[in-house]
Amino acid sequence: MRIYLIGYMGCGKSTLGKRLAKHLNLEFVDMDHYIEMRNHKTIPQIFAEEGESEFRKKERKALEELSEFSNIVIATGGGAPCFFDNIDLMNQTGATIYMNIDPAILADRLIHSKTERPLIKGKTKEELIVFIDEMLTKRRPFYSQAKHEITEPDIELKVIEEMIS
Ligand code: S3P
Repeated sequence: MRIYLIGYMGCGKSTLGKRLAKHLNLEFVDMDHYIEMRNHKTIPQIFAEEGESEFRKKERKALEELSEFSNIVIATGGGAPCFFDNIDLMNQTGATIYMNIDPAILADRLIHSKTERPLIKGKTKEELIVFIDEMLTKRRPFYSQAKHEITEPDIELKVIEEMIS
């Protein structure tokens, strides 16, 4: 069993991923954390020192490795499904669940988040809402290729279990 949670920054992939992994008795891996461990650098450091395109290559490499792990729930990075043929690799190797959360809720969560995210650093809430809207227009065609979709981050775990069975 391998489950990929996908969706925009701040949609709650890690929180749901941990709950789901516990419920299904699986391991949980946060892809960004995995990239940081594998490269001995934080995500902001990779962006600052090597640029986004190098980050995307490292992200792809991490996905290739994680796609061979078993009994696992993976919280993917917000951009992960949108580069290379990453979404195809995820669909071929596991159950993909798109967390489709309202942009206003995403903006609110991101403003209050302690995680440093290079792509949105320093933006006000108003700027964030516009940025998220624009980015979702580009990313939705990728996200919507997931096999399953949920719109509620606090969804009952039983519902997800049934969805992917
Ligand atoms: C990114 C999302 C981040 C992280 C990086 C880029 C994106 O992950 O991979 O900062 O392109 O949306 P989260 O979705 O876990 O914040």
